[in-house]
Parts: sequence; structure tokens; C-alpha cells
Amino acid sequence: MEAILLVGGQGTRLRPLTISTPKPLLPTAGVPFLAHQLARARAAGVDRIVFATSYRAEMFEAAFGTRAHGVDLVYVSEDEPLGTGGAIRNAAGALTCGPDEPVLILNGDILSGHDVPAQVALHEEAGAAVTLHLTPVDDPSRFGCVPTDGEGRVTAFLEKTSHPVTDQINAGCYVFRRKAIDAIPEDEVVSVERETFPDLIESGAVVMGYVESGYWLDVGTPEAFVQGSRDLVLGRLASSAMPGEPGERLALERSRVSPGAVVRGGTAVGRGAVVEAGATVIGSVLLDEAFVAEGATVRDSVLSRGARVGPGAVLDGVVLGDGAVVGPGNELRGGVRVWPGIKLPPTALRFSTDA
Ligand code: GDD
Ligand code: MG
Repeated sequence: MEAILLVGGQGTRLRPLTISTPKPLLPTAGVPFLAHQLARARAAGVDRIVFATSYRAEMFEAAFGTRAHGVDLVYVSEDEPLGTGGAIRNAAGALTCGPDEPVLILNGDILSGHDVPAQVALHEEAGAAVTLHLTPVDDPSRFGCVPTDGEGRVTAFLEKTSHPVTDQINAGCYVFRRKAIDAIPEDEVVSVERETFPDLIESGAVVMGYVESGYWLDVGTPEAFVQGSRDLVLGRLASSAMPGEPGERLALERSRVSPGAVVRGGTAVGRGAVVEAGATVIGSVLLDEAFVAEGATVRDSVLSRGARVGPGAVLDGVVLGDGAVVGPGNELRGGVRVWPGIKLPPTALRFSTDA
């Protein structure tokens, strides 16, 4: 089966992490995020993927080449972002399958343990134009809200509505009949969520919901990104792309964790990263060459490439950009983001964005 991977978004909610690297390529449990999706797609029977790229398009081919994780890869870029529907239509030019065959479409920021072959089987049995994976969440207003009838047929698609009618949301994995893709207007900005799906439902086309509530996460915010990395390292979602066994921590080559440090809770320690004695790092992501000095505490945070945390500093729910430095004795909590290269002098801040 062929698939299209939507990876053209700017990842603005993940800044400053996405200034230099697109969201789908951020190192997650030791490998670019997409490696986990490629491995799972392969296991579900996908043998060829068209990447629909836009933002920093050239970086995807540089990362994965023409074949990775047993899947052949093709890249199609938009000059200007065409939206999710326009991107799918644009990428379809590189598909080789026939008009009635199923094509899997994946948002490029989702970790999901759901049964893709079962979703495809439902699609085929129902003779559907499109079949969406749906999953229940606590706050449906942040997603596409998708009610279904007793037969599992989608009755409406309400993108980011303040009045959700169900907690069942669009989980960002679709099976499209190829000809339903070809019916999307060409070379136009189109949103599948706001145009294609509502139009299909309106016209009476069969749009099915495949409901499954296993592991599912959109890693589009810093909190969710850290959680995704942590869950992969801990083995809450199995991934054959992870370079090591699941456990309390994943330490990549050339990293150095002092025997006198506590590093656990699914922390990933990147290449050449250092955690000194007396430091505590819990449930965090340390990218390559990051440094945590003696006595510092880092929890639920991301330290980008070469970022440094000084002795005794405390970080909780913080993002440090590339090369950012937090001097000794600072205390940062609750969503603080330090931009690349910024250097906080010793005890400059006892800062929290919490109320
Ligand atoms: N090629 C291309 N071009 N890709 C795009 C474009 C574009 O113009 N715009 C967005 N994408 C890609 C993003 O890179 C991402 O992989 C995917 O499309 C979805 O975009 P997000 O920005 O992550 O959307 P969202 O998370 O707010 O909402 C979407 O996902 C939810 C599930 O996580 C929607 O599909 C919701 O309905 C859904 O519930
Ligand atoms: Mg998203």
C-alpha cells in the first residue's frame, strides 16, 4: 500500500525547537520523530511513502534518502504551503496505484498504536470514499470533532469547534480511495478538515469512522513532545526504530551520565550529552551535546543541541533552544522557553509562568 505523509507545517507551537528543524525531524527517543512513523507504517503493510513537504523541504530527503525502515520514499514539495488537502492533492501526482485502491494519509506529528490494517479492512468492507481513525480525548475543542452514527458513518466534521458534540476526534490518519484524492481541486489551498471532509459528508459520500482508543498522541506542543519521547523510551508505545531497549533512560553514544547522577522517567540523553554528579534529570529530552551541571534539577524539559544548565539550577517544564545557557542558581518553571543562544547569568531569574 502507498501512503502520503503530511510534513509541511511550520510547527509554530514548538518554537524555538522548530526554528532550525521541522517538527517531524526533531530527535525523539534517539531518532528523528518520523522514523517511528515510518517503522510503524512498514509494519502495517505500507511499502512506499510520498512526503508532502513545504517548510524546510530539503531537510527531509537529507534525513531519510530514497529508502528507510523498509519503505521506498519519494518527496514532493509545495512552493507555497497548500494546506492539508492541497498538499495531499499535490503529492498524489507521485502515487502509482489505481483509482479504487486505498491510500493511507498520515499527519506527520502523530504517535499512534492503532491497528491500521483493521482501519483499511473497515474502509474496504464499507466501500468508503474515506475512513478516518477516531479516538476519544479529554479536550476535543483542540482537534477535529467527528460524530458518527450507529453504523460508524461520519455525520459531521467540526474542526477546532468551541462547542464539541462528542469527545471523539480526528486522530490524523486517513484511508482515502485514490479517486477521492484526485477529486480535490489542483494547485489550490485546500483544508481537508474545513473543506474536503465537510463537502464529502454533505454530498452523501460514504465517510467512515474507525474508532480505536489505544495509545495516541499529537506531539505538536512542547509538553506533548516531551511526553512522546518519554513514552517511547519507557516502552509505553513500542517502536522498532528506537536505538536501544525500553527503560528508565536511553543514553546514546558518547553521552556521559555520572554514576552520582539520577537520570530516569524515560529521559533521552543525546550524543555527547553530559549529566554531572548530583544532578537529577527526570522525563526529559537532552539533545546532542546538552550539558547538565552538578546539583542541577531538570524535569519534563527539552534541552536542545548544546544547551547548558548551570550548577544547582532548576528547570521544570522548560524548553531551551540550541546553545541556550542557564546560569547557576536560576529556577525556571511552567512553560518557560529560552531562545537559541540566550545566556541567563547566575541567579538572574526565579521565574514561573504558572499563576
Ligand atoms: N505539506 C503540507 N502543507 N503539510 C501541512 C500543511 C501544508 O500547507 N499544513 C499542515 N501540514 C501538516 C503538518 O505538518 C502536520 O503534519 C499535519 O499537516 C497536521 O497539521 P497540524 O498543524 O499538526 O494540525 P493540528 O494538529 O492543529 O490538527 C490536525 O491534527 C489533529 C490531530 O492531531 C487536524 O487534522 C485535526 O482535525 C486533528 O484532530
Ligand atoms: Mg498536529
